[in-house]
Amino acid sequence: MNSYSEPIRVGVAGATGYTGVELLRLLARHPAVRLTAAMGGPGAPARRVPALARVWDDVVEGLDIDVLSERADAIFLALPDTAAAEVAPALLTRGRRVFDLSGAFRLRDPELRRRWYPDTPEMPAAPVYGLTERYRGALGGSSFVACAGCYPTAAILALQPLVCGRLIASPIIIDAKSGVSGAGKTPSERTHFSECHGSMSAYGVFAHRHAAEIEQELGVPVTFVPHLVPLDRGIFETIYATVAPGANEAAIAAAFESAYGDSPFVRLRGSELPEIKHVAHTNFCDIGWRVDPSGRQLVLVVCIDNLVKGAAGQAVQNFNVAFGFDERLGLN
Ligand SMILES: NC(=O)c1ccc[n+]([C@@H]2O[C@H](COP(=O)([O-])OP(=O)(O)OC[C@H]3O[C@@H](n4cnc5c(N)ncnc54)[C@H](OP(=O)(O)O)[C@@H]3O)[C@@H](O)[C@H]2O)c1
Repeated sequence: MNSYSEPIRVGVAGATGYTGVELLRLLARHPAVRLTAAMGGPGAPARRVPALARVWDDVVEGLDIDVLSERADAIFLALPDTAAAEVAPALLTRGRRVFDLSGAFRLRDPELRRRWYPDTPEMPAAPVYGLTERYRGALGGSSFVACAGCYPTAAILALQPLVCGRLIASPIIIDAKSGVSGAGKTPSERTHFSECHGSMSAYGVFAHRHAAEIEQELGVPVTFVPHLVPLDRGIFETIYATVAPGANEAAIAAAFESAYGDSPFVRLRGSELPEIKHVAHTNFCDIGWRVDPSGRQLVLVVCIDNLVKGAAGQAVQNFNVAFGFDERLGLN
């Protein structure tokens, strides 16, 4: 285990966005980190972050890749996909370690990547997919991590042990809801207050890039339907599947225990179903489940905070594992 006597110089690009500010909040208090650079969009004037007063009183500057790579050894990218597709290779070429929160490099299949992230260049070396609980081994020492998306984090953590253990059968239906901060800080017609307050809508049905990411990690098809709900933060997924012949509730509980017994941020709730308020502002992923009296139908309920376990917290967890620290460092 790394003892962190010499703090690591860390930078954040996209530091004025929702996930960027969350990263600053976590990294400013991380005992093994010295926050040496925080940058917003290119050409933006230097500014303080009022919400972080007395937590982090430095300024966010305009993005400059040369300065960023001079000042920091590890860099978190909280940028739109298109910007990350350009900035990540530039930093890696300069020998920096990159933790990318965008989707630009998550899909391994080149055809799917071209479809969903057409601006992403071919990479000489594939990044590690940054879902800590699943890729702890590969994350150790890694220099390029494509952190998992928010909806996929919840879905994969809930489903992967059951798919792997052949305990559930198709169809798998993921009914997913996200708070509005999942869409980033720039309001659109769909996300501005008077549109989404008091309403709820489905979007991206059979046309959402996170379905490809979930299927990549699970290796089975899913029906994924995301919804926008009038909350500021949080992801809530209700997942429906059929219990496989020969499987039962005890086997499902045992598969979860075996997968997450050593995972500090996954809380298994059994039949006590989780709620967004149980996980808001934390790096926890809470998973609950019930099987109907016939033993055939499984319902899973899984909750995370999209800005923490779905973004900044998970990126810091990945960073901790990559640098050999306890994965809870700076996250409790
Ligand atoms: N929001 C979530 O729940 C969530 C969860 C998981 C992953 N992600 C991913 O994380 C990334 C950031 O998301 P977010 O919600 O934090 O976005 P956001 O609130 O829209 O913030 C975007 C940040 O990127 C900067 N930026 C915008 N265009 C840029 C450009 N062309 N070049 C350089 N910087 C640019 C912005 O700077 P200015 O302030 O100067 O414009 C801002 O700091 C996205 O790729 C998103 O898909 C988000």
